[in-house]
Amino acid sequence: MSTFLPFTRPSIDEQTIAEVAEVLRSGWLASGPKVKAFEAALSTYFGGRPVRTQTSATASLEHALLACGIGAGDEVIVPAMSFVASANVVVRTGARPVFVDVDLDTRSIDLDQAEAAISARTRAIMPVHLAGLPVDLDRVYALAERHGLRVIEDAAQALGSSYRGRRIGSSGDLVCFSFHPNKNITSIEGGAVVGGSSEEVRELELHRFHGQARIAADQVETYFAGGKANLSDVAACVGLGQLRQLEAFTARRRELVARYFALWGEEPPLRLPARGDAGHNWHMFAALLPLDRLRIDRAEFIAAMAARGVGIGVHYPAIHLFSAYRALGYREGQFPNAERIGRETVTLPLFPAMSDSDPERVVTAAREVLRGAMQ
Ligand SMILES: Cc1ncc(COP(=O)(O)O)c(C=O)c1O
Repeated sequence: MSTFLPFTRPSIDEQTIAEVAEVLRSGWLASGPKVKAFEAALSTYFGGRPVRTQTSATASLEHALLACGIGAGDEVIVPAMSFVASANVVVRTGARPVFVDVDLDTRSIDLDQAEAAISARTRAIMPVHLAGLPVDLDRVYALAERHGLRVIEDAAQALGSSYRGRRIGSSGDLVCFSFHPNKNITSIEGGAVVGGSSEEVRELELHRFHGQARIAADQVETYFAGGKANLSDVAACVGLGQLRQLEAFTARRRELVARYFALWGEEPPLRLPARGDAGHNWHMFAALLPLDRLRIDRAEFIAAMAARGVGIGVHYPAIHLFSAYRALGYREGQFPNAERIGRETVTLPLFPAMSDSDPERVVTAAREVLRGAMQ
């Protein structure tokens, strides 16, 4: 029996491990030279735009909203299908998330619904590049310009993706990335905001460190009661080592996905995700189960796959159906595609260290389970 194949796993090379050991011996563990170097390397990657890191993309998104002055009384348009952080950060600023549906196959925000949802209170729109597949940014920014909105791109999953040949993050308004271990590169935990005016970049710096700044060699000032979300040098060192490998990681993901599509063939027994184009970083490969034709439910499918040594993820439940959002007045039936994805989605294993034969192992196991469960 071969070893268990998880749905994702980070790849940390020996060089990075050795560099982390050096940081641990250096005496400087919290934000220092490695954080500066990581931000500089990311800025170069994004064509020279400003980059400020935080301890998570959740903090990045929240601080990006706050840096735009978004808060109580404001509305932000958010897709109902994303990781819950996309909406939680809006609530945490005091603003209201206004959900709209997504496309069933691309999982991208429905921009017609987004435009229809704009009110006098709308301040921003948060497109999410789910699974790394870029949202139609030309349309997003045209809509934002027409209505005077800020755009906070949730690019947590989109490092390495490009839209019309331009790297996600290299243009646009405020673009937020995640370096959680499940993402295409990791800093253990971590996130970054790319972009912003010099005033907004300063706001980002204040928000990640107590609302405080140095005003003289022996004096600091605290402008507001800020929290704390500064990255450590240990984390930044891991991030630097990972960034060196980003191109190779992305290329490997694309190879594995090409294999998945070839193996599933013309009539797959589950609904495959949109292929996108060459700019897709393939953060995840999430398909929809044909639950109405199966005698088993999703939990049983996951258990049957686990019994065959294959890990399956669920990304994500529709956000508006969580009790925290029902309490804001949202209910079942409002966003049918997000709800269907939430019920049927299964994430198949996809990470750079997978072997050439792993996709076949996954597809064979899934075909076997589905064949045995068809009504
Ligand atoms: C779409 C999306 N947004 C935000 C986040 C939050 O990222 P982090 O875990 O770095 O806070 C995630 C992480 O899963 C995500 O997938």
